[in-house]
Amino acid sequence: MILELDDVRVTLGGSHILQGVSFTVAPTGVTALLGRNGVGKTTTVKAILGLVPRTGTIAFGGAPVHRLRTHEIVRRGIGYAPEDRCVFAKLTVTENLALAERRGSDHAYDLVYELFPELKTRGAQEAGTLSGGQQQMVAIARTLLNDNRLIVVDEPTKGLAPKVVTEVAEVLERAAERVPMLLVEQNLALVRRLSGDCVVLAAGQVVHRGPVRELLADAALTQELLGVGQARGENAPPLSHSAPSRGTTHPQLIVKDGQPPKEVSQPESTRSDAP
Ligand SMILES: Nc1ncnc2c1ncn2[C@@H]1O[C@H](COP(=O)(O)OP(=O)(O)OP(=O)(O)O)[C@@H](O)[C@H]1O
Ligand SMILES: [Mg+2]
Repeated sequence: MILELDDVRVTLGGSHILQGVSFTVAPTGVTALLGRNGVGKTTTVKAILGLVPRTGTIAFGGAPVHRLRTHEIVRRGIGYAPEDRCVFAKLTVTENLALAERRGSDHAYDLVYELFPELKTRGAQEAGTLSGGQQQMVAIARTLLNDNRLIVVDEPTKGLAPKVVTEVAEVLERAAERVPMLLVEQNLALVRRLSGDCVVLAAGQVVHRGPVRELLADAALTQELLGVGQARGENAPPLSHSAPSRGTTHPQLIVKDGQPPKEVSQPESTRSDAP
């Protein structure tokens, strides 16, 4: 296992936000971290990176990192694309990438520009003037630039239009071929497509672990843990690098607590509102 959390606890503002979270991240592919809004997904990611005070143990590549500071953890080889992307709005795309360069690491500009050709053509553009999807590409590109052994991506498709969700999904899929990923994501079609295993949080605790397919095949459990009903949709989202469809249904729902599920990533052929 590339990452192992054992009994991680976080208290913020007097509230017990994480109450003994334990799970592992596989050394290949995508492990999805799921759960309704406010259950502690981002806090878990921040705990891994040492961005919030926490107790418990965290091992990365077999070595304990929970006593290290964030810059030391990152230097061990964890790339982080935070929720809300956090690009420097007034800096150019090229400058945003340059700032992410880590000393002592090779800088994989060839890979980054192969995966994101637009970041080269838009190199001189201020990142604040990019679309949400393009900013997300910058955030993911920063994690791939360095020689990371794990990348952690927090809700990369939040607030993006369906067509852009598909583009981001393709990039995540290709990135995950090279480096294992812990992915926080609420778009279950995307989770199903990208992830092998999942970890589900509820109220600061792990309430489910196992293959994503098993969870999503159980409509009652999916409803209970994630708040979405019966999986719908007959087609996979249109990812050009995807493996052939395995002939099962793909849930195409985005989970938002307290709101009716919203469809995302309809197949191109049936989408009427394609831009
Ligand atoms: N600095 C803080 N002080 C107090 N409470 C906090 C702090 N940061 C987060 N929380 C609370 O901790 C809980 C978990 O927040 P967190 O952001 O980890 O959830 P999440 O699962 O990532 O949610 P979302 O799906 O909305 O991104 C929430 O109830 C949140 O209000
Ligand atoms: Mg969050």
